[in-house]
Amino acid sequence: MRKKIVAGNWKMNTTPAEGVELIKGVIAQKGEVCSCVNFIVAPPFTHLSEVVKVAKGSGIAVGAQNCAAEAKGAYTGEVSAKMIASLGVDYVILGHSERREYYGETSETLNKKMVQAYENNLIPIYCVGEKLEERESGKHFDVIRAQIEEVVFNLTPEQFSKLIIAYEPVWAIGTGKTATADQAQEVHAFIRKVLADKFGAAAADTAILYGGSCKPSNAAEIFSKEDVDGGLIGGASLVATDFINIGKGFSK
Ligand code: 13P
Repeated sequence: MRKKIVAGNWKMNTTPAEGVELIKGVIAQKGEVCSCVNFIVAPPFTHLSEVVKVAKGSGIAVGAQNCAAEAKGAYTGEVSAKMIASLGVDYVILGHSERREYYGETSETLNKKMVQAYENNLIPIYCVGEKLEERESGKHFDVIRAQIEEVVFNLTPEQFSKLIIAYEPVWAIGTGKTATADQAQEVHAFIRKVLADKFGAAAADTAILYGGSCKPSNAAEIFSKEDVDGGLIGGASLVATDFINIGKGFSK
């Protein structure tokens, strides 16, 4: 049985105090959701320490949104995987399209970040997804295959067994335009096939999350698809009730 995961990517939103209120709100309502759902929240770096403390014992795990490609040293402004892990954080989002697009992250950078994540026992949530023009020109499968081959294929089978993948079509992120459940399923099944070609039967256990304008009103339909194992939620994860109601997309 694959894990069911609902992860919130808070992006660059909330002050630390607001973040603590948000996680408290999620904790307060978590009992309304099937205990089969694994919740993860990924606040900004500045909030991690406090959010880890508040989330302790709640069953909600904490992730970072990024980590440095290097272990330590003269890299002004960077935050290492070791620093993050030492706070009690368990996950790290890597390869988000906003990092690829605005901060020039390439497969080369992401390979280094993956190494740092695994060396520090952080579980990567590795994001892939095509831009609108890539989908419109029918190149989306090639783009996604390359994003996987160039990074995920460098993992050992043991590392791969822990990996979480998120499929986030760029045209659906923050646009209100969600992929249909069938579009999500088509790509998720494709991703699983690409993974199986390399890692064999282990790919059947990989959690593949959908991200892109996922909200309470569409989560259940998207999550009902065979190869969709949950969601990576942006905007709707900033409202505790919405995030919880997305979790209810998995029935009790
Ligand atoms: P939205 O849910 O705001 O579209 O963002 C999705 C996302 O990028 C999560 O990482």
